[in-house]
Amino acid sequence: MKSRLFVALAAGIALAAGAGSALAGNAAEPLRPLPEHLGLNPGKVELGSLLFVDKRLSADDTIACSSCHDFSHGGADPRPRSVGIHGATSAVNAPTVFNSGLNFRELWSGSAPSLEAFVTGVVQNPKVFGSKWSDVVVKISRDPDLSVRFARLYGNGVTRDNIVDAIATYTRSLVTPSRFDRYLRGDTRAITAGEAQGYERFKSYGCIACHQGVNVGGNMYQKFGVMGDYFRDHGHDTPADQGRYAVTGRDSDRHVFKVPSLRNVALTAPYFHDGSAPTLEAAVDVMFRYQLGRAAPPADKALIVEFLKTLTGERQPVLAKAVPEAPAQNAVASASHSGARSMQ
Ligand code: HEC
Ligand code: HEC
Repeated sequence: MKSRLFVALAAGIALAAGAGSALAGNAAEPLRPLPEHLGLNPGKVELGSLLFVDKRLSADDTIACSSCHDFSHGGADPRPRSVGIHGATSAVNAPTVFNSGLNFRELWSGSAPSLEAFVTGVVQNPKVFGSKWSDVVVKISRDPDLSVRFARLYGNGVTRDNIVDAIATYTRSLVTPSRFDRYLRGDTRAITAGEAQGYERFKSYGCIACHQGVNVGGNMYQKFGVMGDYFRDHGHDTPADQGRYAVTGRDSDRHVFKVPSLRNVALTAPYFHDGSAPTLEAAVDVMFRYQLGRAAPPADKALIVEFLKTLTGERQPVLAKAVPEAPAQNAVASASHSGARSMQ
């Protein structure tokens, strides 16, 4: 399973870089449809879905992943800042979990190299779950239903790595194909003429230079404020605003962020790492000003917003197809934990 998944992810990255593909209806398009088969183990997906809403991940049994990643809000947090254990607030706005398995790195700063690294770190983060892994393992082991599921799916039962693997596998299953994917696969009637024009504007104005590939983003780092000083103009410059600089300490990484995916973006307000843009229209205005350094007629912006709405998709649990797997094999490579970093 791991190798198939890896191939799928690697293919996504290669496509984002412009390589040809048998997947796409039109090989010339810079955007790529979501994969049709994920090859995930359905039992692990189901187990992960239970853990995703399980408050026992937190030290005082009050917080679950779903506390901050709201499925009725595109998998993101409607609050500009998330609230973790003991009322601790996050330094940044929570992005969507949907399609996050297709990002080249996780988190705004890209500090987590994989979903596994992120989940391992976040459970111990004192501002999120505030747990010790050993305590979580004990609590989950005491649950008869969950411990039977773990024993069936993993040779060694409830362990940290198996909990991480189940949650990461479930998260990878949260892909959301949309009308726009049907369009990319050749169904020209899946989007309206106006939406197609919006897509043309998205490309011709240059949004596509940064928001591209299978996730319409999520495959590169870029500075926020290429054509103007966003942070000076908005009167804040917190440690979280430093972006990748906080990870690398390199001056050239100041204010550099992972370009976010625009899938389901119509549902995930407020926008940006600082949650400062309340509407999609406001976010698109900021992008024109600070990333492209140009003005555009309101009609063109409205068309782009229309296009962005075609990226609203639906979760497809059926994509998790059964693949035979030896129960003793734990798909989590321990190496992936070494780079684990917690949420800011
Ligand atoms: C207290 C609120 C909170 C909880 C609980 C929480 N998250 Fe998050 N999540 C966030 C915030 C805030 C960020 C952004 C942090 C950053 O980028 O520094 C984030 C980022 C992420 C990302 C990265 C997405 C991207 O595009 O980079 C993923 C994936 C994710 N969370 C999944 C999960 C999972 C799985 C759980 C449960 C194990 C979880 N989260 C629990 C608030 C939360
Ligand atoms: C030079 C690269 C670049 C270009 C060009 C660019 N963007 Fe962005 N975009 C980014 C980055 C980086 C962010 C994240 C900024 C932050 O929050 O720190 C972002 C964020 C966004 C967001 C907010 C997403 C969210 O979940 O918070 C939207 C919407 C968006 N861009 C749309 C567009 C549109 C539409 C265009 C063209 C008009 C565009 N972008 C052009 C790099 C770019």
